[in-house]
Amino acid sequence: MHWLHTVAALREQVAAWRGSTVGLVPTMGSLHKGHLSLIRRCRQECDITVVSIFVNPLQFGPSEDLERYPRTLEADRALCEAAGVDAVFAPTAEEMGAEQSSAADRTWVIPPDSLLQTLCAPHRPGHFRGVATIVLQLFHLVQPQRAYFGQKDAQQLVILQRMVQDLQLPITIVPCPTVRDPDGLAFSSRNQYLSAAERQEALGLYRALRRGYDHWRSGDPSAAGILAAAQAELSRYPHLQLQYLELVHPQTLQPLQKVDDKGLLAIAAYVGQTRLIDNLLLAVTPAEETPPFATTHPRELSGTSAPPRRPLIAIDGPAGAGKSTVARAVAAQLQLLYLDTGAMYRAITWLALQRGIPLDDAEQLTQLAAQTQLSLKSGDSAVEPTRIWANGEEITQAIRSPEVTHWVSQVAAVPGVRQELVKRQRSIGRDGGAVLEGRDIGTYVFPDAELKVFLTASVEERAQRRHNQLRAQGQQVTLEELEVQIQQRDRRDSERSISPLRPAPDAILIDTDHLSQTEVQDKIVSLYRQLLARSGTPCFDQ
Ligand code: PAF
Repeated sequence: MHWLHTVAALREQVAAWRGSTVGLVPTMGSLHKGHLSLIRRCRQECDITVVSIFVNPLQFGPSEDLERYPRTLEADRALCEAAGVDAVFAPTAEEMGAEQSSAADRTWVIPPDSLLQTLCAPHRPGHFRGVATIVLQLFHLVQPQRAYFGQKDAQQLVILQRMVQDLQLPITIVPCPTVRDPDGLAFSSRNQYLSAAERQEALGLYRALRRGYDHWRSGDPSAAGILAAAQAELSRYPHLQLQYLELVHPQTLQPLQKVDDKGLLAIAAYVGQTRLIDNLLLAVTPAEETPPFATTHPRELSGTSAPPRRPLIAIDGPAGAGKSTVARAVAAQLQLLYLDTGAMYRAITWLALQRGIPLDDAEQLTQLAAQTQLSLKSGDSAVEPTRIWANGEEITQAIRSPEVTHWVSQVAAVPGVRQELVKRQRSIGRDGGAVLEGRDIGTYVFPDAELKVFLTASVEERAQRRHNQLRAQGQQVTLEELEVQIQQRDRRDSERSISPLRPAPDAILIDTDHLSQTEVQDKIVSLYRQLLARSGTPCFDQ
């Protein structure tokens, strides 16, 4: 990972990245799970991930917490390293020409007045011009094609989107859902300031938003009704000092009298000395975050989901065609449950290897599958693998070993093992609203899945992808070896009598050879949306 402090060093790297897709995650450091979700999304969509860490003096008012703002550069560095970031740009204020003292004599980006009438802007004069100025400067220095921002700072997001639009910058702003603790508190660097008692009080922000949201869902679109419901909840938190609670249009940020198709319910409040913000999107077809919790919150694969039933997406295809990555990303984007059936077969394979069960002993393997208690949890982002436990022991990493990869298709071909695991998969997918990925998922496990996709890719392409992956993990295997392995695996998978590899007759084939992962994802999401539009089901898309 490059650790860059100067503009000159950054420029050198930027020149070396020419031709790659560069993604930028601008931060003020003190990184938490919210930032990590932006980084993950960026890594998934870009060749190069750059994180900037800069506590920007230009966006702090004279009486705000610039001095006190947490600075944890070493911990941030370790987190970025572990998250696979390619470069961190952590300049000084001087390097950026952004000391508060320079404020009177520098060029500024001034956001449109219309976006500064509501929410944080009147309470933080000059804040958004400080943000827009520094973000434009970062865009100019890093030259990313994509930049990632959290929905939690909804007004910032809208202002930056307008900046990109008005200044015709060749950059896509990618809004990412708010990440919350299980009790609903949105992650924020400022949460560190809170004592235990204050943290309890801080829950009032999200709970008030939820009450407003629930009131709206119960059929009253009026701002008066929604705000009153949220206020009623707030009255249970006497130590919260409300700064604002507003219902505005999510793009224009103008106050709404009622929510026709969408609204943004936003709040800012002080808990002690700490100012916190949060928001929820109220939308008939929500485009960002919708309670309960965004996809970035891990969901138990319990086999239940709320009505109305939403369609299932079944994704199949040969090994290495990108099924898991795409399925996970689609699930995250559409806020659907993600079921990685391969992980279940891997778990049984791993256990069998551990226990020395001969892998040609169908009876013992079947017994093992029947007796093993498996639990799965979707990862808390689009790029995190499904977490899996066998008999209470977490084996998420263990099941990814080359040995398991080698044997899994043999174990998965044992009829008793399949029968047992298919039974469990069916119970998980029964209620709809899931992306299911795995061999024969559309032909056999869920022949009634509403959308079936079969991803293909040439042997050469799949070998190349696998090669890149293994190289990134520091493993040495030649491309030729991988091609042979993939051909053998295809042959084994297609020729086996139980659940051979083949597309369901009504599956939509997508050849991924010349498509990026994002392009494949977009295709599936758009097929799903078409399906929903035809059936009149609301889409919980982010
Ligand atoms: O959201 C933040 O952390 C900051 O406002 C940003 C976008 C990094 C600009 O300083």
